[in-house]
Amino acid sequence: MKLPLIVIFAFAVSINGWIADKFKHSGMTYTNDKYCNVSYSSERSFDSIKNMADVGVNWVAIVVTQYQKKHNTTEIFPLWNAIKSQDGYYDYVTSKDSDLEAIINKAHELGMKVMLKPHIDIIDDPKYWRGDIGEDFSEQNWSEWFDSYGNMMLNYARLSESNKVEMLSMSCELITASEREQEWRSLINKVRSTYNGLITSSANWGWLNATGGEDTKKKWWDAVDIIGIDAYYNVYSDEVENYHHVMKLYEPVVERIKFLHEKFKKPCIFTEIGFCSGDCKRGSTSSEKMQNLQAIWYQGVMESFLPYQEWFYGFYWWNWVTDAAYGGPDDVCLTPQSKPAQQVLRKYYHSVKPPPKRPEYKPICVCTA
Ligand SMILES: *[C@@H]1O[C@H](CO)[C@@H](O)[C@H](O)[C@H]1NC(C)=O
Ligand SMILES: *[C@@H]1O[C@H](CO)[C@@H](O)[C@H](O)[C@H]1NC(C)=O
Ligand SMILES: *[C@@H]1O[C@H](CO)[C@@H](O)[C@H](O)[C@H]1NC(C)=O
Ligand SMILES: *[C@@H]1O[C@H](CO)[C@@H](O)[C@H](O)[C@H]1NC(C)=O
Repeated sequence: MKLPLIVIFAFAVSINGWIADKFKHSGMTYTNDKYCNVSYSSERSFDSIKNMADVGVNWVAIVVTQYQKKHNTTEIFPLWNAIKSQDGYYDYVTSKDSDLEAIINKAHELGMKVMLKPHIDIIDDPKYWRGDIGEDFSEQNWSEWFDSYGNMMLNYARLSESNKVEMLSMSCELITASEREQEWRSLINKVRSTYNGLITSSANWGWLNATGGEDTKKKWWDAVDIIGIDAYYNVYSDEVENYHHVMKLYEPVVERIKFLHEKFKKPCIFTEIGFCSGDCKRGSTSSEKMQNLQAIWYQGVMESFLPYQEWFYGFYWWNWVTDAAYGGPDDVCLTPQSKPAQQVLRKYYHSVKPPPKRPEYKPICVCTA
């Protein structure tokens, strides 16, 4: 009787070991609206998300953006009709709930879990960004802003609950607002009374040379289920020759995330992370070297966290867009679509499908960082 037991035990361990190699959140960020005005619910988008699933992605962050006029105004609103940003770079628009529902259902059909990730952008205050919202707010301003923000979040919490969304991000890079601990705790309680899925928050990274960013300063990490960080840490170098170099440069980042995990005893994810395959500027050209550099960074970052899969659940790479023809060898921006980085993902995400095909049709969307 003893021998079979040992055999079963050994077998179970090796199976677990193998499964553990795939990050629990083998994730990707999926974007339309301001980053590519091909709607989530279009055929092109359905082609694109199918390609994403074929790469081995098992969790997808669906981004939806709402807006406020200035960094010191307190009203948040959707834009149902697209307007161009002042620099002409982005299309400011909000995805309709029906489009969100369509893409959430499609992701589920393809076997992926979903994080809904609401963002706020400022449309008419060029010197400021979302991290500054509330910089010179009075108490009255804060209370009005949280009413407006809370309204938006409770609507998305209801939408998430009724569409079985598995995770909701409470905030994205709202560095200044993040300091209002009591308001966030109270909003999380309200959201939890409507929504039963997991809760995270997508904190801004911090400079590694400074005392802290939203990642290490946030006091309410205990109130979420998973610590989420938009991880554009300042360790990038284009001098690296292989992923071992990346791992060396990435050591302080791993230490920082480990510190957060140990302090709050919560699992961690990168709610955003990404590297450009060039200089990230529209109109620039890429090269084989720069395309490979992006892939090396993908590999180095994933290798750095392989030993910590017990508590480091994974990555939501920025970004995969709704245009299935986007990306490729000429693109200098962040997407891994149709690039060597996509091959790296297929490997680490244990893809069992052939590499996705780039469609015959021409891309509509152009490089957005
Ligand atoms: C994208 O937006 C621009 C205007 O901002 C418009 O000309 C174009 O037709 C839009 N494309 C799609 C696919 O909606
Ligand atoms: C809000 O900020 C803008 C600059 O972005 C400034 O011109 C304006 O005076 C500010 N308003 C208040 C009420 O502080
Ligand atoms: C912010 O609060 C100040 C002082 O309470 C007030 O004068 C100002 O109008 C408020 N700003 C907004 C956008 O409500
Ligand atoms: C950290 O480094 C960045 C650039 O790498 C610089 O802009 C910033 O001022 C530095 N911060 C401190 C506190 O030294």
